[in-house]
Parts: sequence; structure tokens; C-alpha cells
Amino acid sequence: MAVPMPSPSPSMEPARQPQLQPALVEVKSLEMRFGQRLIQRDVSFAVAPRTIFAIMGGSGVGKSTLLRHMIGLLPPAAGQVLHQGTDYWASDAATRARLRARCGMLFQSAALWSSMTVLENVMLPLEQLTDQDLSTRRERALEVLRWVGLEEFATFLPERLSGGMKKRAGLARAIAAEPPLLFLDEPSAGLDPISARRLDDLVLDIRERTGAAVVMVSHELPSLMAIADDGIYLDDAGRVPIARGSPRALRDDPATHPTVRAFLNREEPPA
Ligand SMILES: Nc1ncnc2c1ncn2[C@@H]1O[C@H](COP(=O)(O)OP(=O)(O)OP(=O)(O)O)[C@@H](O)[C@H]1O
Ligand SMILES: [Mg+2]
Repeated sequence: MAVPMPSPSPSMEPARQPQLQPALVEVKSLEMRFGQRLIQRDVSFAVAPRTIFAIMGGSGVGKSTLLRHMIGLLPPAAGQVLHQGTDYWASDAATRARLRARCGMLFQSAALWSSMTVLENVMLPLEQLTDQDLSTRRERALEVLRWVGLEEFATFLPERLSGGMKKRAGLARAIAAEPPLLFLDEPSAGLDPISARRLDDLVLDIRERTGAAVVMVSHELPSLMAIADDGIYLDDAGRVPIARGSPRALRDDPATHPTVRAFLNREEPPA
């Protein structure tokens, strides 16, 4: 007799059936080093379409370094980074450029061009990646600046912005060309709680409207719980990643590694 299966609870739902669709980006047995210094080894995961994927872990474990590997800024010491099944570093320069163009990136430091206005910074990827004319690019850049609440600062140079405003300007630049893959390094660091909440809504909105997948480094537990549907937890250098799954499921699963549970419950790590 057929027994109807109970529907899974929302927090235990797997991340959007990654097995059915090709991963937008996949990291396979990745080893990251700076010279002789090992940062991480044996990191493997895949980011399914439309997933918000969290990269978690303490300060200095290599989260920003992992993002740089994923967007092709740093070559792996070993292992692979695949974009839609294509091995990035095994590809020719033209293919690499095409794959890189699919990635929008908000750097931890925002990395705005200091000699360009906020508006010019946001228009830059539109110039590089689209064939829009100047007035269309301008309108689009103003639209995304409005989204992030910075329209009236469009003519400012970055030095006149606060830390949180720089982050939002960097976010505007990252999303302007609506890339299918968005990498955000601590997007809500430096934001007040209300702006941080708005940023979560913005990330969800971008995912809904553009279908982008988002890979996000974040320490903001409320934000991780609210919007991330998959993720990985990195521990100190040399130890393999010690957890994989949605932050909510990891927090609630008694089998989760104690270090990860402590992080997700904001407790002192176990001795
Ligand atoms: N360009 C570099 N050259 C040499 N070492 C580096 C370089 N960039 C980062 N590192 C080292 O790699 C390690 C990981 O740095 P990374 O910035 O990726 O950490 P993180 O997890 O992003 O930390 P945080 O949460 O503080 O941002 C650190 O020990 C750092 O000193
Ligand atoms: Mg970092």
C-alpha cells in the first residue's frame, strides 16, 4: 500500500534539488595556499541555481580567499573550480574572461575606485559587460543606487562615504549588470540593523527577479538564518571543512559538529 510521505519541514528542505540541475559553480577538492602556508584543503561543494549559499567560519580561516578562488582571482594550489561544469583554470583566456564576466563581486573592503564618483563606479561593469549607451547605463546605475539608498550620493567620491555606505555602493556595482552569480563578502558588516535587514531583503529580491545564485560570506547570524539555504563552515587552516548545509538545519541538528553549533548559537567554542 502506498503511504503518502510527509512533506519535509521548511528548515530541513534540501537546497533546491541541486542534483537535478548543473551547479552554477562548483569547488572540487580545492586546496588554497599562500606560498608554503596552507589556508584550507579538500574543500568541495556545489552551488545550485537560485541558491543563497553561506560561507561561514571564524576570522582568518580563508573565507575571502575562497571567494577569490571562486571568481578566478587566485589559482588553486590543488583541485578545481568549475563554472557550469567548465574547469576555470583549464580554460583558455577567452573562456576565463567570459566566465569571470558572469560573476558580480562585492569585496570585503568594497574596493571602490577612489578617483571615480559613486555613480561612475556603478556604471563601470555596465560599460564593460553590456552594450548599453551612456544614458541607459546612467539610468540603470541610478536605479540600483536608489535600491541601496544612495541615489543622492551618486556624485560623491568614495572617500566621502561611511563604511556602510561604501558597502552599499560596492553592492550596487556588483549587481548593476545583473550577473547570474553574485559573490558578497560580508555585505552587512558596518550596516546598522535596519539597513542589514534591508540588505537581506535586497538579496532575496535580486534572487527572485534575476534568478541569480548568491555566495555570501557572513557572520550575521540573523541574516544567515533568514536567507541562506545552503552553506559550508570552514575551520582553522588544514582541517577539512566541518559542516555543510543550511545554517538553520545545521543549528538545529544535534549531529552538527560542536564548533559549528557553538558558532550558530553564538556560544563559546568547545575547548
Ligand atoms: N594576499 C595574501 N598573501 C598572503 N596571505 C594572505 C593573503 N590574503 C590572505 N592571507 C592570509 O590567509 C588567511 C585567510 O585570510 P582571509 O582574508 O581569506 O580570511 P577570512 O576568513 O576572510 O577572515 P575575516 O573573517 O577576518 O575576513 C589569513 O591568515 C591571511 O593572513
Ligand atoms: Mg574575509
